[in-house]
Amino acid sequence: MQLLCRLKIPSSESGSIRPQHSVLPINFSTTANSVLATEFTMAPHAVPELPSLSNRALGNFSAGPACLSDAVMRQAQLEFCNKDGSGMGIMEMSHRDAGGPVQNAISGAADKLRILLDVPSNYHIIFMQGGAHGQFSAVPMNLLGSKTQADYITTGYWGERAAAEASKYCTVRHAYNGKKDGYRSIPPVSEWDISPDSAYVHICANETLHGLEFVEDPELPVGSPPLVGDFTSTLMSRPVNISKYGLIYASGGKNLGPAGVTAVIVRNDLVGNETATCPSVLSYSKMVYSKPIPSVYQYPAHISHLHWSTSFSLTTSRTAVSRRSRCALSRVQMPFTASLRSPMVSTTSSAPT
Ligand SMILES: Cc1ncc(COP(=O)(O)O)c(C=O)c1O
Repeated sequence: MQLLCRLKIPSSESGSIRPQHSVLPINFSTTANSVLATEFTMAPHAVPELPSLSNRALGNFSAGPACLSDAVMRQAQLEFCNKDGSGMGIMEMSHRDAGGPVQNAISGAADKLRILLDVPSNYHIIFMQGGAHGQFSAVPMNLLGSKTQADYITTGYWGERAAAEASKYCTVRHAYNGKKDGYRSIPPVSEWDISPDSAYVHICANETLHGLEFVEDPELPVGSPPLVGDFTSTLMSRPVNISKYGLIYASGGKNLGPAGVTAVIVRNDLVGNETATCPSVLSYSKMVYSKPIPSVYQYPAHISHLHWSTSFSLTTSRTAVSRRSRCALSRVQMPFTASLRSPMVSTTSSAPT
């Protein structure tokens, strides 16, 4: 239950669009915003008009966030200020409100993701913070168990980063490393040097910097350790055969919605094996078994969850995900065709520091 209180707001003398002495509910539950309970009158302030969506014609093609559709933006505008006409914006609401809007956004996003990606019932879907970099540490800390080594298939910059982070916790075996060849191709699985003694095999499904992508999910030999995939820049751009993986993760900023949330899809049997020193915020079991719903062990990024949930609602079906994959494949031809025509065009971009 949220504890709500009514707030009196005098209108500003210049340009406020709020009616004089409008009343708004405030959240005074354990996660209350920083409004002092003793101060019920806010200073007058001007409230700017909402910007129009009609002149949103630019997109970022550099590193960083992908475009969000106008429909997601409009929905965000509405819910940001006054979620479903409740009188509160989603960011002002408590994530402890059982069955309330914040928990609904989180559960709704997980349910929709399960449908869109056809995630089998023996996998948990959780949302964490710390981005993909957080997962570079979370994966070894949760999956090593009694093992001391993990296999990394390095096909570009992000795989290198994942391996470097994992080497703080275990011995990293480079089951394949394409660095010496400048990351030009991905060899077949039969050429990977996988060890049955490793805790897992890590791949990066799409290397945004070096341009190598797994367009099909690799099939590891029977008896191999579980496959782990960094799907940060590609999840939802094609159907994924989840059952070929023990775990996949994808941070926000690309296809899923804005940054601040990281999706982790993990097979049931891989949860609950974290090392004693694994920080609780990186523990899969803490997130899976948080109450009353998963992913509320800590204060979640409300607004990002809402965007993810809205964006998944607009991706209406699995067919839409397949259609995206066809579009992505035809789009990818464009820079490569250009690079073949002109030696001035490079298909890699500069690495972040
Ligand atoms: C494939 C891949 N992995 C990891 C990252 C890093 O993600 P984050 O900044 O969420 O840690 C990125 C960022 O672009 C990426 O494309």
